Amino acid sequence: MELDKAIQKRHSTRKFKQKAPDWKDIIECINSARFAPMAGNNYSVKFILIKDKETIQKLADAAQQQFIAQTSYVVAVCSNTTRTLNLYGERGKSYLKQQAGAAVQNFLLKIEEKGLATCWIGYFVDYLVKEALKIPPEINIEAIFPVGYSAEKLKPKRKIDLDNILYFDKYNQKKMKPPKTLEV
Ligand SMILES: Cc1cc2nc3c(=O)[nH]c(=O)nc-3n(C[C@H](O)[C@H](O)[C@H](O)COP(=O)(O)O)c2cc1C
Repeated sequence: MELDKAIQKRHSTRKFKQKAPDWKDIIECINSARFAPMAGNNYSVKFILIKDKETIQKLADAAQQQFIAQTSYVVAVCSNTTRTLNLYGERGKSYLKQQAGAAVQNFLLKIEEKGLATCWIGYFVDYLVKEALKIPPEINIEAIFPVGYSAEKLKPKRKIDLDNILYFDKYNQKKMKPPKTLEV
């Protein structure tokens, strides 16, 4: 799929078909996340592919979002903080979040290309997710992604205008300075 198309078509899905996706397709999406940039090329992100129905129900409860339990697979994204924090100290905390975001965006675009659907779940009770997935204390849980086929009707997307996010030369300057003309 063309990159622009994948970027523009990607959307969150909260209603899924019963049909289970092929887990190998999900692994391909996780594989795309390997190519995300990481500070010092130290890869901090880990993925857990969850199939067990009871565990998926625990995740839906931990997030208080029952639509998660409609899916046959959930992907949990974690960060192993040790190396990045050892190398970069306090600043490493920010790097870990940026790196997780970069890896997740690759994953999401590949989900789109594969004709799959998901929703980024950032709200959950951390210790309940950690308990359900046996995640050790030094590992952060970043987000969870129920993966399936969309059963939603596509609505036109409301997206922010470029005007509202772009400045030139300094913060809040909305216009680009005209180029200097040469005097002869
Ligand atoms: C960090 C983050 C956390 C989010 N957490 C949730 C969540 O807990 N539940 C949910 O339904 N959607 C969640 N979303 C999805 C957003 O609501 C969604 O991306 C946004 O409304 C834009 O819609 P789109 O993904 O279709 O473009 C989250 C998205 C991000 C980036």
